Amino acid sequence: MSNSIQILGPRGNTLSVQAAGEGQTLFLLHGFPLDQRLWQYQLEGLSDRLHVVAVQMRGFGSSTLDEPDFSLAELAQDVDFLRQHLAGGQTIWLAGLSMGGYVGLEYWRQYANQLRGLILCHTKPTTDNETGKAGRIATGQKALAEGTWAAVEPMFGKLLSEQTVASKPEIVTLVRSMMQSVAPATVAAAQNAMAQRRDFTEQLPTIQLPTLVIAGQSDAIAPASEGEAWSSKIPNASFVIIPNTAHLSPLENPTVFNQTLLKFLGV
Ligand code: MLT
Repeated sequence: MSNSIQILGPRGNTLSVQAAGEGQTLFLLHGFPLDQRLWQYQLEGLSDRLHVVAVQMRGFGSSTLDEPDFSLAELAQDVDFLRQHLAGGQTIWLAGLSMGGYVGLEYWRQYANQLRGLILCHTKPTTDNETGKAGRIATGQKALAEGTWAAVEPMFGKLLSEQTVASKPEIVTLVRSMMQSVAPATVAAAQNAMAQRRDFTEQLPTIQLPTLVIAGQSDAIAPASEGEAWSSKIPNASFVIIPNTAHLSPLENPTVFNQTLLKFLGV
């Protein structure tokens, strides 16, 4: 059983999380354009051993977007504000998926001392090239002009594996519902923020924390072969491929995802 918690954030916006359990705190950061429902099986399946906190980033789920723009650095500051309020100021484990992984690396850059370890799922340390950045700006503009679904629908077919689509219609419905529920202004703000994100490639050898890098067997957005290559630059990292998954292994194969996490956390 998880609880929904709303907290007034540092800039007057409402930050919303879903939390369950007790013990060491594990923060979970969703990808784009999703929300805390990405982590429903982790809230259920890990909270008998951990204090699990699924964060909804500004504008996503019931967290509000009170300024038209944000940076990934500011999203990491929100996470630390939540850590101070929800983890009693203690150190946390931090798991981020895709955009959540970009925020996770930003959190590490600003607050490494507050981390027990990092779990980077279906993500990458690099920035976009100029074409990629222009595509993000165009996606944001399309969302504002034509609505969220028109802008994000091209991503939909890349998020789930063939196995998930064939055998888990409820996951297909859930992912579509999460995507459709994001406001156009949030799509634009998140795309602008991701277009401006830092490149962490050079910093990877300086990450001293225990780190787990998770990839999906058929993820075309963050390919496993690339994940294996960049994770090898982090001195204390393990790399795991979750079978039968594309970009969303916490939902697509929660049993193997949760076992992998528990083994890494040692709880
Ligand atoms: C995500 O899943 O968060 C997105 O694929 C991230 C991105 O657009 O780079």
